[in-house]
Amino acid sequence: MSLAAKSRNAFVCQACGAVSKRWQGKCESCGGWNTIVEETGFSGVGAASMRRSAPGRPVALESLAGEGVSPPRIESGIGELDRVAGGGFVPGSVILLGGEPGVGKSTLLIEACAAMARRGRRVIYVSGEEAVAQVRLRARRLGLADAAVELAAETCVENVAATLREGAPPAFVVVDSIQTMWTDAVESAPGSVAQVRAAAQALIACAKAGGAAIVLVGHVTKDGQIAGPRVVEHMVDAVLSFEGDAAHRFRLLRASKNRFGPTDEIGVFEMTGRGLAEVLNPSSLFLAGRDSGAPGAAVFAGMEGARPVLVEFQALVAPSTLGTPRRAVVGWDGARLAMVLAVLEARAGLRLGGHDVYLSVAGGLRVSEPAADLAAAAALVSALTGSPLPADAVHFGEIGLSGAVRPAIHAGARMREAAKLGFARAVAPPMEGEAAETPLRHVTVTQVAEIVAEIAGTSVRDDEAARDG
Ligand code: TYD
Ligand code: MG
Repeated sequence: MSLAAKSRNAFVCQACGAVSKRWQGKCESCGGWNTIVEETGFSGVGAASMRRSAPGRPVALESLAGEGVSPPRIESGIGELDRVAGGGFVPGSVILLGGEPGVGKSTLLIEACAAMARRGRRVIYVSGEEAVAQVRLRARRLGLADAAVELAAETCVENVAATLREGAPPAFVVVDSIQTMWTDAVESAPGSVAQVRAAAQALIACAKAGGAAIVLVGHVTKDGQIAGPRVVEHMVDAVLSFEGDAAHRFRLLRASKNRFGPTDEIGVFEMTGRGLAEVLNPSSLFLAGRDSGAPGAAVFAGMEGARPVLVEFQALVAPSTLGTPRRAVVGWDGARLAMVLAVLEARAGLRLGGHDVYLSVAGGLRVSEPAADLAAAAALVSALTGSPLPADAVHFGEIGLSGAVRPAIHAGARMREAAKLGFARAVAPPMEGEAAETPLRHVTVTQVAEIVAEIAGTSVRDDEAARDG
């Protein structure tokens, strides 16, 4: 895709930023409908860079082996946030924080601002969505009204940039949100791809010049795309996303791109009546209220990025009155459930074809790891047979189509987390090295039929005893 710098009129998809020569109902690049808008000033930014430039001069080339200095960091003191950012924010860097409206982005950032200000840094919070009074009201509700955060309600990027250049250079700046920012240099409407891109460019220049770490807030659409700001993802140094839904209190902060840190860290928060609280032990949050004596419940020792998180898989299996039995799944992949059911039928002889099957991950977490297969299978078998699983067991392992249970990564971290929370055994495939040396008793499974025999064993024997007697 070229910037189409020559044509003054371009048709730009507002969802993905693709440029086409004529208007179309459907964007060929992302498949979105009615997302293409004509943008007259589109070449405004590109055109400036297309002017005839002076002849280049050679730059000094260096070797890879040279001195590497790790960048300094400014910490907010909110551990979960600093860790996801890579150990604090790097001066001069720009971070995009995406999330659905209402998830708590503004709340998190005003808390971060207040924490930074209390550590004696100059902090500026620019809101393009709310009036100063509204921001103050939230801060008061959060008990942060006394923090020395400087507020502005402004949407013009040139004004924001001028404000940031004035006085002592700020260390931390929040721009909430990038979609509300506009610049005179581009003629199209605020929120359009061209405006968002130009505004981000101006703010990135500000960060580089002034040395502030700037956080840009970006709203995402339901399908998880950072609408409009998708096009600034490649321009910024880090992209963080804030996830969670209104029905549950917990919120996850993840990095999907980070030039200055890892992308497998997650931060866990809980939305309370007084703002976001850090959750230092997410497993205990997800296992709270667990009914461990009930059949159909299996604890999965999972990983969220580099962090072990224990969650409960709950299954319900009931005879179906429908021609095509119902399969419903919440928090896990429906196709994966279908596969596990098929393997249980084909490799362990279970009859599930005449049953409705419901599977849910408790607490509202979305699990996407293949290692969850074994926990799902255990929950399903337990629900079908009516025999509860041992309350002190965790499960993990990937199930193949042959019925073989394959090892999962980070087995050691999963086992240690389970031991920390008082579990005594891990039902998992064979493992080597450090994972084998944990206080948990390791119940090895190599075939899915073994776990079926283990769980169903008692109840099958009871049935037989009942028939015999
Ligand atoms: P907000 O930070 O405004 O979300 P965003 O900026 O991502 O759109 O938070 C919105 C929700 O958070 C709102 O529905 C109310 C809730 N909330 C609380 O539950 N407790 C609080 O202390 C605050 C400030 C907000
Ligand atoms: Mg907001």
